[in-house]
Amino acid sequence: MANGAPDAASMAKKQQEISVADFFAKNRHMLGFDNARKALLTAVKEAVDNSLDACEEARILPDIRVEIRKVEGADDQYTLVVRDNGPGIVKAQIPRVFGKLLYGSKFHRLRMSRGQQGIGISAAGMYGQITTAKPVQITSRPHKSKPAHYYELRMDLKTNEPVILNEQETDWTSSVTGTQVAITMKATYFRGRQSVDEYLEQTAIANPHARFVFVAPDGVERVFPRAAQELPPEPLEIQPHPHGIELGIFTRLLQDSPYKSLGVFMTSAFSRVTSQIAAKVCKEAGIALSCIPAEVHPTDGEKLFQALQKAEIPPPRTDCLAPIGVEHLLKGMHKELGAEFYSATTRKPAIYRGNPFQIEVGIAYGGKLDSDGTARVIRFANRVPLQYQLSACASTKSVMDVSWKSYGLSQSRGSLPAGPLVIMVHMASVWVPFTNQAKEAIADYDEIRKEFKLAVQEAGRKLGTYLKKKQAAANQAKRRNVFNAYIEEVVRAYQAITTKDGQELREALLATSRKKTELAERLEAMKHKAAPEEMEGTLIIGEDGNPIVPGAAAALVEELSQSQVDAAEKMLEESGSDASVTDSVSDAPDIEPAERADGGVTDGVLPGDAPIVLSAPTISWPSMTAGKKTDNATLSLFGEEDA
Ligand SMILES: Nc1ncnc2c1ncn2[C@@H]1O[C@H](COP(=O)(O)OP(=O)(O)OP(=O)(O)O)[C@@H](O)[C@H]1O
Ligand SMILES: [Mg+2]
Repeated sequence: MANGAPDAASMAKKQQEISVADFFAKNRHMLGFDNARKALLTAVKEAVDNSLDACEEARILPDIRVEIRKVEGADDQYTLVVRDNGPGIVKAQIPRVFGKLLYGSKFHRLRMSRGQQGIGISAAGMYGQITTAKPVQITSRPHKSKPAHYYELRMDLKTNEPVILNEQETDWTSSVTGTQVAITMKATYFRGRQSVDEYLEQTAIANPHARFVFVAPDGVERVFPRAAQELPPEPLEIQPHPHGIELGIFTRLLQDSPYKSLGVFMTSAFSRVTSQIAAKVCKEAGIALSCIPAEVHPTDGEKLFQALQKAEIPPPRTDCLAPIGVEHLLKGMHKELGAEFYSATTRKPAIYRGNPFQIEVGIAYGGKLDSDGTARVIRFANRVPLQYQLSACASTKSVMDVSWKSYGLSQSRGSLPAGPLVIMVHMASVWVPFTNQAKEAIADYDEIRKEFKLAVQEAGRKLGTYLKKKQAAANQAKRRNVFNAYIEEVVRAYQAITTKDGQELREALLATSRKKTELAERLEAMKHKAAPEEMEGTLIIGEDGNPIVPGAAAALVEELSQSQVDAAEKMLEESGSDASVTDSVSDAPDIEPAERADGGVTDGVLPGDAPIVLSAPTISWPSMTAGKKTDNATLSLFGEEDA
């Protein structure tokens, strides 16, 4: 050892325990408090997420008020006040909930909720305390008939324990229960991307059952009204699945088990283990079912674990998840985005590491959406918007993996698609695997990535179908205009020859033009006979801003493809043609039955579609001279020319 260099003994003097609070105070970027801009957003998010969780758990429709006030005389300090109508917090718990890190009700359970770690709101309070030395102020009323409790707290960073500075009974201005937290912190307030406004907008989309009021520092108030009157279904708490658990965790569960026998332990501590399965596993491992779990030797514990892994056990229950659902996804997006087309998909539940999860995707296209640049991806985990770490998130990677060109959008290799597009992705799970404690991005598990991709493809296909139909409709309109221009030419020629006003002829030709393009539209729908299913879970907005078909637009397509396609087919039958798809104008008023011309024309070709061959229809020239029909005076208005 070099002279003067420390040895083990001198180094030992410096070795000491690190307090959790001290650790996170130093590493506050891990919790989302890296800078003054992000800190305000993170604090709002932690408080609002808690309010939503508490309201939903108590089955109360959330009514949440967020207010940000500038602190007089301090340029960079703001006070954040979040108030809810939730169940409130009992007096004895308030100091630990707000003044101690890693203290909460959600960490030890497998239940879908926004909070997981027991760190969120105390971390926001700690950040406020570090940057402004001001205490956190909490008011909570858990009983409607009793006064509220008011606390001023700070956190002892050395011990990670709350210090109560002030405590008293106080009035609560509304008639219901609830909680209010006020934190003063160093912050920067701004609007736009990654702001508090954006967080609330996105939260309102994913939580249409909640109402939010936001008062910004300049006094401007924004109300996000409730769009759904019912709460999401109550998510159930489940036990861990034996196939998703590691040996070390299993051993600990065994040792800490309060149960009197292995049989009860296995059926109670895990999901899907029946008494028959428990008996089989114990027999396989050579251990008596009646053994006391805490007394099982580690070697036997390992045998038991291996037998459990080999056993056939049904997959975890998946009814513990409460996805947003197609209807609410469409409603939420329509309420906030102002697009012309929406589609949404909710996948069936799947499993990663024994944890059930479910992926949902919504797509909004056109309308007021920004058409410059690439699509905007808005991500959610258990209904919470994720605004940072976009490219680190499994969901973004999946969106980039999809080939958007097949849905009619442009996309450079390995990047997001381009165009007026918002892609909303949601993961609902009893445990969301976040990449960091700030809960900003979803970890890249293969199972999760695959489900995201399939969901994006499902919603993308619906958009593709819509874009094709839109293109087809535009083609039809263009075509009708061409016909109409010809008609005027013909009528003028007719007037010149016959000196009649030609009104009768004009009407007959217009009727034929309408019929012709209408029939082509029906044929278009026939080409997409599979469309109704594909268009389920979509919402199309008309030019007046109202849904063309309230709710899902599937009915629109259904109408087109069922009644119109049937009519088209009937017409085709009546035309007596032996071709599978033919056209006829035989029932046009005042027009003689068409003579079928040889050959056909190509019609209504859509990008990537096989062309439909139509026989070239011809119309007879009516009343050419003084009420007499002239032979051979046929005019091919809708023949080769308009192909
Ligand atoms: N507004 C509220 N109403 C009722 N209970 C609340 C409220 N805010 C917090 N709590 C309780 O306090 C606990 C701690 O909250 P905290 O935000 O620190 O952690 P968490 O929500 O459990 O997890 P996470 O760290 O992921 O947010 C919660 O688990 C909940 O039991
Ligand atoms: Mg929380």
